[in-house]
Amino acid sequence: MRVLPTLLGGACLAAAAFAAPPTRKDAPKVTLSRSDFSSVIAPILDARCVSCHGPKKVKGKLRLDSYDAMMKGGKNGAAFVPGRPDTSMLLARVFLHPGAGDLMPPKEEKQLTEAQKEAMYTWIEGRPIPAALAKTAKDGLKAAPAKDDANR
Ligand code: HEC
Repeated sequence: MRVLPTLLGGACLAAAAFAAPPTRKDAPKVTLSRSDFSSVIAPILDARCVSCHGPKKVKGKLRLDSYDAMMKGGKNGAAFVPGRPDTSMLLARVFLHPGAGDLMPPKEEKQLTEAQKEAMYTWIEGRPIPAALAKTAKDGLKAAPAKDDANR
């Protein structure tokens, strides 16, 4: 790529606009909220994932029963990249089509609601989970069977 004179001139604002899109390697440094993890994300994981990804069973070599275990990832390494929900394998598997073989939780299990998926996406993106979304996501754990609560 040709180096533009504005960049040479030290126009830092312009430089950002010419930066290549971030890849896994140069993902923005994002710190995920520990309080949103314990108040919103952990209850979802405990209810829908930990039976297979916790102390009793460790499917895919992935544990989801603590912040640190979740950050560590599984047999394929990191399950997600903080700040990059678009490249995060864990989210990809949660958002798959209901018929997809790789869907998580597996299709015979109770599925995540739209609000629960959105809460996970927001958290991995590094944004605070809005209170209303947090509430809908957690309410969805009480309802049985879990179903799409996006329009409630
Ligand atoms: C009924 C058991 C079961 C439940 C519940 C379950 N999983 Fe899994 N999960 C598996 C199995 C088995 C594998 C390994 C095979 C595979 O990768 O499909 C796996 C693998 C994974 C992997 C890939 C790990 C790697 O490094 O390759 C991710 C990510 C994942 N699960 C996320 C989740 C999330 C998030 C939830 C809850 C929303 C969940 N799983 C709930 C059984 C389960």
